[in-house]
Amino acid sequence: MRVVVTGGAGFIGSAACRAFVLQLGWTVLNVDKLTYAASLRSLDPIKDHPGYRFVRADICDGAALEKAFEAFAPDAVLHLAAESHVDRSIDASAEFLRTNVVGTHTLLEAARRYWRSLSAPARSRFRFVHVSTDEVYGSLDEAGHFVEESRYDPRSPYSATKAASDHLARAWHETYGLPVIISNCSNNYGPYHFPEKLIPLVTLNALEGKPLPVYGDGRHVRDWLYVEDHVDALALILTKGRPGERYNVGGRGERANLAVVEAVCDLVDEFVPAARPRRTLISFVPDRPGHDRRYAIDPGKIEAELGWCCRESFDSGLRKTVRWYLDNRAWWEPLRARVYGGERLGLAEA
Ligand SMILES: NC(=O)c1ccc[n+]([C@@H]2O[C@H](COP(=O)([O-])OP(=O)(O)OC[C@H]3O[C@@H](n4cnc5c(N)ncnc54)[C@H](O)[C@@H]3O)[C@@H](O)[C@H]2O)c1
Repeated sequence: MRVVVTGGAGFIGSAACRAFVLQLGWTVLNVDKLTYAASLRSLDPIKDHPGYRFVRADICDGAALEKAFEAFAPDAVLHLAAESHVDRSIDASAEFLRTNVVGTHTLLEAARRYWRSLSAPARSRFRFVHVSTDEVYGSLDEAGHFVEESRYDPRSPYSATKAASDHLARAWHETYGLPVIISNCSNNYGPYHFPEKLIPLVTLNALEGKPLPVYGDGRHVRDWLYVEDHVDALALILTKGRPGERYNVGGRGERANLAVVEAVCDLVDEFVPAARPRRTLISFVPDRPGHDRRYAIDPGKIEAELGWCCRESFDSGLRKTVRWYLDNRAWWEPLRARVYGGERLGLAEA
């Protein structure tokens, strides 16, 4: 299997590249522009592996994509490249429109041209997996789960651009027959997660004795998915998923944000005991504008159809994750020092 992974230097993309090359023996071409969110160090375990290649390119650059497709001759595309941080989308939405919408369109067109050039058997084997988010479905009340038929109701600039890209991907299947599959997953967590996101940010702030910001009342619920379980799901979708279908991927790991922060504090206390419990560092800060209250995924379809199951519980996955950050300072210290130091983003004050 030869797979083009876009955004392979990001959090989920690097986990996919590592697993595909090291565990599945696939050959991967990582196409990444290397924005602030990228870290080539996340690819250190495979950087010299013959099954791994990298090209620095913007998914808005059609000529570069066509060249990459022609030279690499993939069997599939796993499209992960995106601007992905809701808070940043509130401060500066233009880059989200450019990458998530224009970039996805450019990639779909490059993939379509390449796919049309293939022999009939190769054309029928080809897959384009577009990775999206549960945030396109909007916000849930206390009950219910998102299913594949849930209505689109995006409410942040980020989720609006992801919704737009999902519609494009679907349209390229319906209109041109490109074998597109869409996956909508819940909040991922795990090693190599950029330290602007909740779990790594809280882990590192707790370790350094800094305030632990919780947005609003801390009762917003997210459905946590360990990144390696997500990558297992993506490999199944690539190999067994049905073109034109959509699969929701979630870890059945619903937690309120405050409970997540408290659990991280307790783990840091356990691994690195301090005079005062880290929970005393928790402070409530103004809520994110338009903050969705609850996300929860029903992963029944991918479990039943593709045989996927989540191996990590939230408690076991969180323990591994916090341990990883404590053991891998060399990965996150340069990012904290030079790329993002923990300042508050996304208050819509401009
Ligand atoms: N992390 C999550 O919890 C989560 C949940 C649901 C869906 N998703 C989706 O999964 C995908 C990957 O998320 P992530 O958390 O790994 O993101 P990330 O921000 O960690 O990584 C994104 C990667 O895309 C690259 N990129 C950005 N713009 C690009 C461009 N124009 N051209 C080429 N490369 C570009 C970046 O350099 C980076 O390496 C995204 O599409 C995101 O919407 C993520």
